[in-house]
Amino acid sequence: MTARTLMLVGFVALALPGVLLIFWARGQSAALLEQPVVIEEHDLAKPEHVSFTRGERLVRHVLDCGGCHGEDLGGLKVSESLLMGGFYAPNLTRGSGGVGGALDVAGWDRAIRHGVDADGRPLLHMPSDRWAVLSDRDLMDVLAYLERVPEVDREMLDSKVGPMYRLLLATGDIQLPARQIDHDAPRREIEPGPTVAYGTYLATISGCLDCHGEDLGGGPSPSGLPASPPIDRRALKDWKSADLGRALREGLRPDGTRLDPYMPWPAYSGMTEEEVQALWMFLWVGGG
Ligand code: HEC
Ligand code: HEC
Repeated sequence: MTARTLMLVGFVALALPGVLLIFWARGQSAALLEQPVVIEEHDLAKPEHVSFTRGERLVRHVLDCGGCHGEDLGGLKVSESLLMGGFYAPNLTRGSGGVGGALDVAGWDRAIRHGVDADGRPLLHMPSDRWAVLSDRDLMDVLAYLERVPEVDREMLDSKVGPMYRLLLATGDIQLPARQIDHDAPRREIEPGPTVAYGTYLATISGCLDCHGEDLGGGPSPSGLPASPPIDRRALKDWKSADLGRALREGLRPDGTRLDPYMPWPAYSGMTEEEVQALWMFLWVGGG
């Protein structure tokens, strides 16, 4: 064999597993990304009264849609890299480039509580798994606000996955919310109040459990960002409910040190006293 043939053989031997891996990841991820999720349409319980103001507070201070879609909800680049891909939260308003005008109640519902687009294909970066439990009443209030939010003209790119994302999807290290949600699970209306039940609901829909863990035992630090500390009863044993209020509303720990805004306290700063009390009941009595 000539030196050149040897080099070629060596190159193929080295590159082949990589190429096979890429093909395997493509096939596996294509099924997960493309196969539509079938959702039984159900009639939303039409509440007697929908509240724009309550919807605004939920969107801004509990669900924090603006954390990804931008303060003006006119769309924002969430992240972009060659390996993982680009994730662009669309313009939610009725302005030009916005999806607001094209979505009816069922369309909003599909995106928010089921994590799928109009064709039933899984969305990538929408944390719909935390909103699958969102009650019909809360959804209707949220929509009352979203449908009247001031128009913003902004064109956004479509999200697009990269090769590393496909690989992590194929190995199960990334899960698409739409493939995890039980789309037929019945929902319960939980009466707002300073109760463990309402606190559990709030901790789910406002994302506390996503970062701090289902068992409140803490979560890992994503690249360059602080880790989420444990917030169960043991970890907060020296806290009072007013301390939780200060952490959520002002981003301050009891010793006066400031919390990194990656913990979305700037959004939570508009939580009501009742919501803080409910979360406290959950952390202190219910969880951990
Ligand atoms: C963690 C970031 C994040 C948060 C928080 C978030 N979104 Fe999204 N959303 C996205 C991204 C990114 C997309 C684009 C599709 C994709 O990449 O998943 C998207 C897509 C959408 C779509 C378009 C669906 C379609 O049919 O194309 C709607 C509607 C939407 N989001 C509404 C909301 C609402 C309402 C909230 C708050 C309740 C919210 N989003 C919170 C990231 C987010
Ligand atoms: C996006 C991830 C994220 C979400 C969502 C989140 N947190 Fe945090 N939280 C953090 C991080 C990270 C810290 C630590 C910040 C720092 O080190 O400055 C923290 C700190 C805290 C602390 C202070 C703990 C201590 O010992 O200093 C409390 C209390 C807390 N979070 C409660 C909550 C509650 C309640 C919710 C839901 C309403 C919530 N967090 C939602 C990431 C998050």
